Amino acid sequence: MSRPRLAVLISGRGRNLQALIEAQRDGRIPAEFAGVLSNRADAEGLLRARAAGIPAVSVPHRDYPTRAAFDTALAQSLRALHPDIVALAGFMRILGDAFVQEFEGRMLNIHPSLLPKYPGLDTHRRALEAGDAEHGATVHFVTPALDGGPAVIQGRFRVQPDDDAERLAQRVLEEVELKIYPQAVAWMARGELMLRDGAALLCGHRLQQPVTLQDLEEAFR
Ligand code: GRF
Repeated sequence: MSRPRLAVLISGRGRNLQALIEAQRDGRIPAEFAGVLSNRADAEGLLRARAAGIPAVSVPHRDYPTRAAFDTALAQSLRALHPDIVALAGFMRILGDAFVQEFEGRMLNIHPSLLPKYPGLDTHRRALEAGDAEHGATVHFVTPALDGGPAVIQGRFRVQPDDDAERLAQRVLEEVELKIYPQAVAWMARGELMLRDGAALLCGHRLQQPVTLQDLEEAFR
């Protein structure tokens, strides 16, 4: 039985990609990397992929006259990898409905906020301006609604008085994202997580709320 094929889409530094590479390498994610795609040729994450022996190519969105033309080219490259799982990891493009529908149910995204709070950009500044006591990140299935698909797992922490947007971004990445994404992708690789009728099912149970890092820590205690 061949292992599921994992494709990762990036735009930048690839720290989430690196966490997935390390989790796959140590056996926590039972999948094979099919490839890494980036919409930017200068994405540092491409170097991380190649250093790990993963095929990595860029499909620069600037090379295409329209968003639809870019989506078509990206879908073609992604389809050619025959992915069973697609992880958007720091991927900064909004994908059109046709692209999303082709990969819906296989595609996850990580978003640096406690969704449904703060879909879109600039999440850390918005959380600070709102005076939120807590902040964090969410992994969700990708559906046509921007950052709106069913949430799978979420991690949160208390905002400290000296946290500014930059410090929050670093805390969200290090204390939450790098932990929750490997867990979500591992569930997908083991066939325990799926999207059905617009809801996330984990081990057959419909998730009314995302799983939290605390749930996991208690479970493992
Ligand atoms: C992460 O906070 C991610 O949530 C956001 O971009 C940041 C950097 O991602 N979309 P990476 O280092 O490229 O994984």
